[in-house]
Amino acid sequence: MEIINIRRSVRSYLDKPVEKEKVELLLRAAMQAPSARNQQPWHFVVVDDPETLRAIATVSRNMQMLNEAPLAILVLIDKENLTAPLMAPQDAAAATQNILLKAVDLGLGTCWCGVHPRIERAEPLARILNVPDRYEIFSLIAVGYPKDQNANRFVNRFNPERIHYNKF
Ligand SMILES: Cc1cc2nc3c(=O)[nH]c(=O)nc-3n(C[C@H](O)[C@H](O)[C@H](O)COP(=O)(O)O)c2cc1C
Repeated sequence: MEIINIRRSVRSYLDKPVEKEKVELLLRAAMQAPSARNQQPWHFVVVDDPETLRAIATVSRNMQMLNEAPLAILVLIDKENLTAPLMAPQDAAAATQNILLKAVDLGLGTCWCGVHPRIERAEPLARILNVPDRYEIFSLIAVGYPKDQNANRFVNRFNPERIHYNKF
């Protein structure tokens, strides 16, 4: 619960690489996500090349933090052989959230940048990263050590008015 509570979108990072072991732990967390009919539609592109990260930052104003981030992980959907195609974005969202939460556990900060269903973001990203048509880019996650030590901190959003029992 503590990790869920303190996870925040972090958009400013130290100039410090993320260790390979930690990247693997993030991807292990991602692939433990639930998916419709267990279809596990995900692929991941891990970007740590500074030039590529800066190129990604030009795609959208919402991805400016890639000018600073030492790492980005893109969550992709393999559109072929899906057994529950309409659910694939939800599977990819679950994998994305697992990365965000595991990152907090590892002392890292992240920011989920939405790509799907915005074609004007997906297309330039696919070009920069050589992604074949068969794969759809679902999300981009900026990852790094937060510049502000207290970036991940508790914000209470619990709102009992949003809860409906038995009937709305
Ligand atoms: C689907 C989705 C898309 C998002 N896209 C962006 C984005 O493009 N750029 C960005 O800076 N933050 C993005 N965010 C982060 C939200 O702005 C952030 O989660 C929200 O303001 C709540 O703040 P918190 O994450 O610190 O709790 C996105 C979050 C989600 C879930």
